[in-house]
Amino acid sequence: MINVGFIGAGEIAWTHAAALAEVPEARLVVVTDALAEKAGNLAHKYGAKTAVDLDELLRFPGLDFVYILTPPAVHAQQIIAVAQAGLPMLCEKPLTMTLEEADQAISAAKQARVPVMTGLTHRYHPLAARAKELLENGELGDFVAAWSHRLTSLDVQPGSWLSSRALGGGMALQYALHDLDWECWLGGDVAQISAQEAHTNPRIDIEDNLWALLQFRNGGSGSVGVSWSAQHSHTERGLIGSRGNLRIINQKRLVGRTSEGKNLEIDLGDDYDWFDVFVRESRDAISQLSHAEPFRISVEDGRNALEISLAVQRAAITHQLVPLPLKVMPEWEKNA
Ligand SMILES: NC(=O)c1ccc[n+]([C@@H]2O[C@H](COP(=O)([O-])OP(=O)(O)OC[C@H]3O[C@@H](n4cnc5c(N)ncnc54)[C@H](O)[C@@H]3O)[C@@H](O)[C@H]2O)c1
Repeated sequence: MINVGFIGAGEIAWTHAAALAEVPEARLVVVTDALAEKAGNLAHKYGAKTAVDLDELLRFPGLDFVYILTPPAVHAQQIIAVAQAGLPMLCEKPLTMTLEEADQAISAAKQARVPVMTGLTHRYHPLAARAKELLENGELGDFVAAWSHRLTSLDVQPGSWLSSRALGGGMALQYALHDLDWECWLGGDVAQISAQEAHTNPRIDIEDNLWALLQFRNGGSGSVGVSWSAQHSHTERGLIGSRGNLRIINQKRLVGRTSEGKNLEIDLGDDYDWFDVFVRESRDAISQLSHAEPFRISVEDGRNALEISLAVQRAAITHQLVPLPLKVMPEWEKNA
């Protein structure tokens, strides 16, 4: 049995707790949150204990695995603390707010020889994963282009960390990161990025629409368009290969065709519940940990998704084409 502790008892923690309850080899044993009442409510529901703070949680007897489920501005310091306690962890996306923080967190984990998984949840969607398989097994030929459009209406609360670019990273780090990660998973390294954003909600300080174009090093293209101001929700992802193409419609149905004339069709049904990806994510994390195998989504994958998202953010703010990799500013240069 893997004993799991949660740092953070907010919205995503409730989803992870319900998902973890579907994994018989694991159980939630301890929860901490900056707001004790929130930790208490979640712990009570799942028969876990509470810890007053991170230090107490890390001393919890028999703890095997930690989920970091807090806002991104505190991820780096929490990854470092969990690593120094010698515990493996799953950290929600975005891994950190900056590449400098990501590198500090990665180096602490490496020094402590502690594995870190990043919560790039969308890779666990069965149709997103099937697209990757079809590309890898050659059925679609070489990568040519991918697109991902997720349009929804989201009531971002004014004053919340999500509504602040400094605390949440805006749409690039909070939302488009998943779409960018999926495309980079398929297309590989990105050479350069252009992007534009729009701000239609006067109640919040950040953009609520973001559109980006990616040029991959292999010559392929990617586009990502996300909206939090769309009254008519719509999601579509697509992939074009040199020998076939496919679309994933509303995360429920995959359709496509190969140049050999094979039709591709998978229907998850209208009742398919996105909660499934969280169950798959926890099941995989627990299985890899139990078998002492490396996590399938590494901390480096988390850093890569962060870097692409930061590049999109920079391109949207500066209206400039942003080349990759991004330059990490050394400490001495920052302080100069
Ligand atoms: N993978 C996904 O699809 C997905 C979906 C939603 C959110 N997320 C990520 O999950 C993380 C949390 O998001 P959320 O929606 O649950 O936020 P939230 O605001 O609902 O919850 C965050 C919780 O962390 C607590 N907290 C804040 N600072 C803390 C600290 N220093 N120590 C302990 N607790 C602290 C808050 O009190 C709050 O209860 C974010 O990084 C977000 O990007 C991922």
